[in-house]
Amino acid sequence: MDQSENKSTNPCIAAGAQTLEQVIEARLTRRGVLGGIAAVSGALLSGCTTGHSETAEPQTPVFDFDEIARGVDDTHHVPVGYGTDTLIRWGDPLFEDSPAFDPMAQSETAQLRQFGYNNDYVGFVALPDSEDGRNRGLLCVNHEYVSTTLMLPGVAADFPASMTKDFCLTEMAAHGGTVVEIVETEDGWRPVVGSKYNRRITAHSTPMEITGPAAGSARLVTTKDPTGTVVAGTMNNCAGGITPWGTWLMAEENFNGYFRGEVPEGHGEAENHKRYGVPGGWYQWGRFVDRYDVSKEPNEPNRFGWVVEVDPTDPTSQPKKRTALGRFKHEGAESVIAPDGRLVIYMGDDQRFDYVYKFVSTGRVNRNDPSANRDLLDDGVLYVARFDEDGMVDWMPLRHGEGPLTIANGFRDQADVLIETRRAADLLGATPMDRPEDVEPDPSTGKVWLMLTNNSERTDDQVDAANPRANNQFGHIIEIIEPSGDFSATRSRWEILVRCGDPSDPAFGASWNPLTSENGWFGSPDNCAVDPSGRLWIATDGNERTGAADGLWAVETTGERRGTSRAFFRAPEGAEVCGPKFTPDGRTLFLAVQHPGEGEGATFESPSTRWPDFNSRTPPRPAVVAIRRVDGGTVGG
Ligand code: FEO
Ligand code: CA
Ligand code: CA
Repeated sequence: MDQSENKSTNPCIAAGAQTLEQVIEARLTRRGVLGGIAAVSGALLSGCTTGHSETAEPQTPVFDFDEIARGVDDTHHVPVGYGTDTLIRWGDPLFEDSPAFDPMAQSETAQLRQFGYNNDYVGFVALPDSEDGRNRGLLCVNHEYVSTTLMLPGVAADFPASMTKDFCLTEMAAHGGTVVEIVETEDGWRPVVGSKYNRRITAHSTPMEITGPAAGSARLVTTKDPTGTVVAGTMNNCAGGITPWGTWLMAEENFNGYFRGEVPEGHGEAENHKRYGVPGGWYQWGRFVDRYDVSKEPNEPNRFGWVVEVDPTDPTSQPKKRTALGRFKHEGAESVIAPDGRLVIYMGDDQRFDYVYKFVSTGRVNRNDPSANRDLLDDGVLYVARFDEDGMVDWMPLRHGEGPLTIANGFRDQADVLIETRRAADLLGATPMDRPEDVEPDPSTGKVWLMLTNNSERTDDQVDAANPRANNQFGHIIEIIEPSGDFSATRSRWEILVRCGDPSDPAFGASWNPLTSENGWFGSPDNCAVDPSGRLWIATDGNERTGAADGLWAVETTGERRGTSRAFFRAPEGAEVCGPKFTPDGRTLFLAVQHPGEGEGATFESPSTRWPDFNSRTPPRPAVVAIRRVDGGTVGG
């Protein structure tokens, strides 16, 4: 979901910072001190090439495929020599008793047995090969949100008055996530309908335990849950992660949009809700179900905005909301094991002028016994990033009692610090960023890739070294280099890999390697992945601002081609691209094509595309696709 309309709620954004020239000067001074100025000063001054890492580093294999052309049309495109399978679509059956997809007769009951809407994160957990030797695994897919007037028949003309309770319950059932077993056949990957692993998780019908330091807080208590430890469902699950022990992390992002009403005047949660944009009023659910109306259940929003951990191998297991990871608009939750065995999870808070975080567990990962890691995410330190002009990142702990995180500032305990993570980070002086999306660690290099999607509200006097463009419409990508590959470090280095947008117009201030063609540059980086060869792939949400469809690009990060981008996949009109996820052998790439056909004036009756079915009686259907090389080789060459 492109939240570019979603205004900042951060009251602490720094003004009067620096001009761009001052930022560049400060960076050059740092480079001079570090002895690297000769190699980089031209690049920084001209703005036409990318920053270079200062240490000798292993080179990743160069991408080798014929890139596709920029453009927009009603279908998807891949390079010559590649094939695309539509693996699973909104409404497809998961169970033996699943009803056939009937877009004119949608219901909560049917949707609970079918693949949900607007697939976003894609996780893959390999299973032992099938008896016939075929590859198989579990696909874990988030269903972030629903495009109401595109999904439901007959509601657009008189929206929102046309919305009924049944429509809202259907929407709730289309949210959440899906676990589905998939198997690679001679004809490509296929879902295993009726697999014992298959499961739907929804916004309304899946009980979840709230765990960690905030569990049981009075601020999480509602009429239906006097314990503050049990909540029905998860929503707006955007990106996520798979832990080293095979659990699935679902990140709750724009939870604010589901609430309506106002808290009573003087209520203790009023300022807290304001900082998170509650109530957003994007959906009609609160008209029919009290929990989504904050005038009736003022604590309910505090039970969302967390990271949910799910065991995809046990469909009867209860998902857990891990409060130690903080409460904000979580984009993703990709993890890596630090050299000492502790788990580190990187997370972005996707809002203009909000922050980048990492969580470091107290305990060490048991690589041999997954069950020993069952509660590892309940105890650890949450850090927020301050990106300094000298090219260093300071990771500042959000610990109750330290610094400003005290009773005097309204934090009675660690539960308060976590429920109000944003305010705690404000007080610590974290760096307000240009909408942090995916943050992807690469265990093979000690690097971390941070997608900053755009921020058209940053003004000239708000630019800083890590967010160097005012009116940043196209976003940029930051490389964080952890010292000696120690992901648990509290002080790291950072560089800008590329500033996105059209490099042919100097007014945009874009910076790509000049080897990038007119098809290769893009705007609004969102989700990303590092493939088994250590190469970076970046998906976009909002590239239409550049006049072309969203897609997936392959970006070189090492050697002479560092900062070169090449177009690999183009989405159908109206869609953004999520995932991406590679199988461990690198031969299959899964992509989630989200909200195809969405756009100004698009409705169920009149969408801009009917991808992927192209049937006049079927609306466009969000779907996960599997892309493979025709010759069976590694995706990307
Ligand atoms: Fe749901 Fe930040 O994209
Ligand atoms: Ca997005
Ligand atoms: Ca996203």
